[in-house]
Amino acid sequence: MDKKPPINLHNIPKHVAIIMDGNGRWAKSKGMSRVFGHKNALTAVRQSVEAASKIGVKALTLYAFSTENWNRPKLEVDALMSLLIHSLKNELETFQKNGVCVNAIGGIENLPIKAQKVLKGVISDTQNNTRIILTLALSYGSREEIVNTIKNISKKVVNNELLIKEIDENTINNHLYTFNLPEVDLMIRTSGEQRISNFLLWQMAYAELYFTDILWPDFREEHFYDAIIEYQNRERRFGKTSEQITE
Ligand code: IPE
Ligand code: IPE
Ligand code: MG
Repeated sequence: MDKKPPINLHNIPKHVAIIMDGNGRWAKSKGMSRVFGHKNALTAVRQSVEAASKIGVKALTLYAFSTENWNRPKLEVDALMSLLIHSLKNELETFQKNGVCVNAIGGIENLPIKAQKVLKGVISDTQNNTRIILTLALSYGSREEIVNTIKNISKKVVNNELLIKEIDENTINNHLYTFNLPEVDLMIRTSGEQRISNFLLWQMAYAELYFTDILWPDFREEHFYDAIIEYQNRERRFGKTSEQITE
């Protein structure tokens, strides 16, 4: 059945970022192990990508694994890594069919070699797709990203490729993992938690934040549209007055 969202197609966020949270609690509520929750998260991923691309969102970024998530029990970390490998392999055909260009941000070199290899393959196989750019945040931490950015900018200063007085916000933007993405317009977090958890701190400076109690494995196309509709009902003032915006 074709779902027809009452969405204003002239006011679509360019970049939507999602903190996909609640897999563990979803599984627990069913008396199952946390890994069962992760395994059942794929439908939500698929439907979000599909919904985003249907309404013309140009960039969708999914928080899949944080730098802090390495501190989880080894069994869970291993399961998440092998799920990543399997789903990347399985989804390649769908990415191609739907014009999805896959991208990754984070400490990719920290992932198991096998995961890095599959990821690199999917990124290169989908690089000419132009409908939507799907960025997977893997071993991602915003603070780590900022440290990495400062190091790279400092190197250029030391090598006389850049003057300190030339450093501005664009310099930072261009050295972040997200250099090729527009800033985040809408951030969605599932599972009822209302925090950022070290995700895209710089990039979300003016994002609209949307929190829903739905646990990630239950998140569907219509929930994605609910977030978009809520976004469209917000007035983004960027420091100006309401009168200035509506003029
Ligand atoms: C999100 O679900 C998936 C990852 C962080 C990898 P969680 O595993 O955090 O689920 P909860 O928050 O414990 O329910
Ligand atoms: C954030 O979720 C990371 C991902 C969704 C990948 P967490 O479940 O790890 O966040 P906290 O620990 O509750 O803040
Ligand atoms: Mg969680």
